[in-house]
Amino acid sequence: MAEANSRNDWASAGDLRTLGKTEIHIAPVGLGCWPIAGMTSLDVNDQDSIRTVQTAIDMGINMLDTAYGYGAKGESDALIRTAIAGQREKVVIASKAGMHWTPDGNRSFDASPSRVLQECEESLKRLGVDEIDLFYLHAVDPKVPIEDSAGAFAELLQQGKIRSAGVSNVTVEQLDSFTKVCTVAAVQPPYNMLQRGIERDLVPFCIERQISVINYWPLMKGLLAGKIRRGHVFAAEDKRQSYEVFQGDDFERAQKLLDCLDEVAKEIDRTVAQVVVNWTIHQPGITATLCGAKRDWQIAETASAMGWRLDDSQMNKIAKFLA
Ligand SMILES: NC(=O)c1ccc[n+]([C@@H]2O[C@H](COP(=O)([O-])OP(=O)(O)OC[C@H]3O[C@@H](n4cnc5c(N)ncnc54)[C@H](OP(=O)(O)O)[C@@H]3O)[C@@H](O)[C@H]2O)c1
Repeated sequence: MAEANSRNDWASAGDLRTLGKTEIHIAPVGLGCWPIAGMTSLDVNDQDSIRTVQTAIDMGINMLDTAYGYGAKGESDALIRTAIAGQREKVVIASKAGMHWTPDGNRSFDASPSRVLQECEESLKRLGVDEIDLFYLHAVDPKVPIEDSAGAFAELLQQGKIRSAGVSNVTVEQLDSFTKVCTVAAVQPPYNMLQRGIERDLVPFCIERQISVINYWPLMKGLLAGKIRRGHVFAAEDKRQSYEVFQGDDFERAQKLLDCLDEVAKEIDRTVAQVVVNWTIHQPGITATLCGAKRDWQIAETASAMGWRLDDSQMNKIAKFLA
């Protein structure tokens, strides 16, 4: 395996990136903490989850991406709190407000100002921290004007409870409206080799305004990690099989992409997941990408996509296939 895969040598490469116009610096790969919340990922346990967070930090990842709604009762926040004990200063905690789970297990979006303020207070307690480094609006609440939600984030900034604000799952127009009330450091949209819609308008807008794009689903729920191949049989409870990309023509198209990525990975002695993540963090406007994981080996593999770069011929080969 190439040199850059050893622990922490990435960190010494000094490739930290600036979050928006803030003085916060983040590694180009962040740990996505949705899987450790145990709501959709199978076979999740506290010991492995804590080890996953700690391995991420050991590997030079400094951003942990959680949310008020990652777990019915903040399970992801509680695991992060345990995992980062004694090393708070090493991490940038990103969280979100505006989505919660009702007692009967349904997802509910409420981004009213009072709810945003309440979720922030609870998240601070659950995480055991004095401030959240980056706090996003999880999604626009159709019942609440986005400017009203933004007002709550501006208030939290003023109170020093959050160091920067972000917005997730927004259009350019919604983002523009939010920025009129509250400074935005980052947006969080879905983006990967198979879903590139943001390249058209959101990314150019963010580049112009110096807003970081921190994308989710770089691995398309594990598909682009390269281990779910033709003939894969999902466990009956695995909800991923309901996603279109895991079915029919879409799945076959993804498999052809994986065939191409296999060749690139073999050529440079990397894994497909590392090629995919490296491609992602070198796309224009992408400040960082969020890789979900529930096991230490998973985040060790994706964190090792930092500290090196696919060369032009490898990038061109991928671009040609995607075109
Ligand atoms: N703002 C939003 O609305 C929003 C929405 C979605 C996600 N997010 C954020 O973005 C993060 C990333 O999204 P995600 O976790 O849903 O999906 P993802 O990063 O695209 O995929 C994560 C899944 O891929 C598999 N995986 C990870 N590393 C692997 C490896 N090295 N080899 C093989 N499989 C591997 C694991 O699944 P298995 O082990 O279960 O196979 C893992 O749960 C989330 O955790 C969350 O922080 C935000």
